[in-house]
Amino acid sequence: MHIALAPMEGVVDHLMRDMLTRVGGFDLCVTEFIRVVDQLLPPRVFYRLCPELHTGGKTLAGVPVRVQLLGQDPGCLADNAARAVELGSPGIDLNFGCPAKTVNKSKGGAVLLKETDSLYNIVHAVRQAVPPTQPVTAKMRLGFEDKSLAIDNALALEAAGASLITIHARTKVEGYNPPAYWDWIARIKQHVKIPLVANGEIWSAEDAVLCQQQSQCQAIMLGRGALSLPNLAAVIKQQSGPMSWEEVRQLLTRYSGYEIYGDKGKYYPNRIKQWLGYLKRQYVEADALFAQIRAMQSSEQIVEALQQP
Ligand SMILES: Cc1cc2nc3c(=O)[nH]c(=O)nc-3n(C[C@H](O)[C@H](O)[C@H](O)COP(=O)(O)O)c2cc1C
Repeated sequence: MHIALAPMEGVVDHLMRDMLTRVGGFDLCVTEFIRVVDQLLPPRVFYRLCPELHTGGKTLAGVPVRVQLLGQDPGCLADNAARAVELGSPGIDLNFGCPAKTVNKSKGGAVLLKETDSLYNIVHAVRQAVPPTQPVTAKMRLGFEDKSLAIDNALALEAAGASLITIHARTKVEGYNPPAYWDWIARIKQHVKIPLVANGEIWSAEDAVLCQQQSQCQAIMLGRGALSLPNLAAVIKQQSGPMSWEEVRQLLTRYSGYEIYGDKGKYYPNRIKQWLGYLKRQYVEADALFAQIRAMQSSEQIVEALQQP
């Protein structure tokens, strides 16, 4: 069974990818999206969002990390895709799911799901620019306002040369609200031949089984579920038990070490609160810890609170 860690802007950065892939069970990570507007971005932008390019495009635990691009200009996306692959990204993922509004007159993400031709043109241009040995994959939602173009869009991505499509089984308008319509992935699967990866609302091993049954897909991608239960991928794959709170606390402490001494010291208080927000779903202790550190602004204070037994 193939399990990917979902790209999550502002949440799943290289530190989180390192932590979660060390915990285990993941076969692939995708970076937060890199927005492409009208220029070839300098290498430093790719290295900032994907420092794993310095280590062969893999996390330290050895899991490949694929660069994700978001934009609307086929030629410019193609140039940036070629650069990312040259720098060591194992293929390219294209974002057709981001709900954010148009920025600087540039479209990108889910809004393109209204324009099947644009999806085709982007994937086709990127496919031409990237060596045939490297996969070009796409991540889509079921639609923007409704699901009427879901199958046509997936067919266009396939015809343009995508080697795989991850489907977040909701429209843009449905946001992140349950349910995810896994059965729609099975519908799409009846029309396309390339592999599909099912994504959305998998919080437990039971959800994973249901999702696999309803989507008819073996491969899945985990987002918020992996943040609320850090060993969810291993729980699903190896029937491991859920991580204990004590183990989670050690993970949080390790994360604090990374964040404070890494490049994000100033973001640490917010980052840890954000992660606890996800952990609260699985661990009552996270709720208590969150309440305790809520008002704290200093990293040192938070680390102290974390280290109390
Ligand atoms: C905070 C946040 C940031 C996200 N950033 C991205 C992103 O950069 N690229 C992308 O393709 N999807 C992004 N997503 C969508 C997730 O990859 C995933 O499709 C979605 O959360 C559904 O999966 P889940 O129910 O397992 O969380 C983001 C989601 C969240 C909640």
